[in-house]
Amino acid sequence: MSVQETRIALRNAGRINPESIDDYINAGGFEALARAKQTERDRLIEDVENASKLRGRGGAGFNTGFKWSGARSSEGKEKYIVCNCDEGEPGTFKDRYIIENDPFTVIEGILIAAYAVEASDAIIYVRGEYEKPIGLLRGAIAQAEERGLTGNVNLRVYAGAGSYVCGEETALLSSIEGGRAEPRLKPPFPTDKGAFGKPTVVNNVETFSNVPMIVLNGTDWFSNIGNPDYPGTKIFSVSGDVKKAGCYELATDATLADVILELAGGATDGHTIKAIQLGGSSCGYIRGNDIDISVAFDSLRKAGKSLGSGAVLVLDETRDMVLQIQQILHFFAHESCGKCTPCREGLYQACKRIDRFVEGTASRDDLDMLLALSDLMASDCFCPLGQGALTAFSSAFELFPEDFEQRMVK
Ligand SMILES: Cc1cc2nc3c(=O)[nH]c(=O)nc-3n(C[C@H](O)[C@H](O)[C@H](O)COP(=O)(O)O)c2cc1C
Repeated sequence: MSVQETRIALRNAGRINPESIDDYINAGGFEALARAKQTERDRLIEDVENASKLRGRGGAGFNTGFKWSGARSSEGKEKYIVCNCDEGEPGTFKDRYIIENDPFTVIEGILIAAYAVEASDAIIYVRGEYEKPIGLLRGAIAQAEERGLTGNVNLRVYAGAGSYVCGEETALLSSIEGGRAEPRLKPPFPTDKGAFGKPTVVNNVETFSNVPMIVLNGTDWFSNIGNPDYPGTKIFSVSGDVKKAGCYELATDATLADVILELAGGATDGHTIKAIQLGGSSCGYIRGNDIDISVAFDSLRKAGKSLGSGAVLVLDETRDMVLQIQQILHFFAHESCGKCTPCREGLYQACKRIDRFVEGTASRDDLDMLLALSDLMASDCFCPLGQGALTAFSSAFELFPEDFEQRMVK
């Protein structure tokens, strides 16, 4: 096998006992925090922002240091660091994998960020179903506190109620505050007015997990790995019709073929790949014979695709796109918070129409309604949940119209 993983966030996976801070320390853990604390704060942020060019791994690909500098320069003494481990995206299980293998790396990254922006409160928001990661994180925090490593930072784990929209950063903040998890209008951005109205940095688990190695190995080391515009690595959660489903961390100049064919072993025996849904349920499909494309964030975007959270759902030739879309639309209808009408009512209608395709009673009118809803919701929904809810449908219809047409009444 020619393609190898490059492990940064997962560097300790399988090498340390995730319940032992001694193992983590023996592997060089918390050296980065000590080094960061010897660095002037603005310099540290400048390094993360402009020299390392670390970008968010939670889906939006935003410059991490830019967020940190925004929160640092915001007025107000109290500041929050929030780590997003809601991970409600179907087919995404990388944050869980990081924590189950090494809960200390993300904690060290959070503590470095807290030092950088002078935050004395840090919250790791974990979906409630993630019982094992929650236990591991709480145990790891207790050990770090015993060793005096958390300093003046009050670091705690908040178990969410397990709703997809809780992963959207402003809905997450409302949930932390005890309110309904509904997205808020931006601006103000969380870096100005976040948790409890205080300046807040929200970053993903994988994003924070890269920070210790950037501090230890230097920004040049990091920015020279992978694609220069989205440097470093990305963890892919591969599931579906492949031989070896799982998490793989690759330099960002890899191709989708490297992930699927080389590391995940390709389609299961006797089958061919029909389509890949890259990025999660709100993202489009790629044809099975088009997988020789770069996984770098911006080049995918230019090609009209999305890296999203790094979910890679592989579908073989036996899969019917109508059934895929039915599952996705019902998922979104269930997860819509109901705040805005286009999302709430649009998804209700979309489910009714796609169900007719499954029953074999769909007409041209049902197809037209789904196509119209795709356009309308993409532009008129309040938050990206609704805006992306029909992306999978429009992409599936564009690439595999026959799957839909054969189910329509002639
Ligand atoms: C519906 C929805 C769900 C999201 N779920 C997650 C999630 O589970 N984890 C996550 O890190 N980001 C999620 N995001 C993105 C966050 O809003 C935010 O961009 C991210 O946490 C920022 O971290 P990063 O810059 O380190 O990527 C979601 C966004 C939307 C619209």
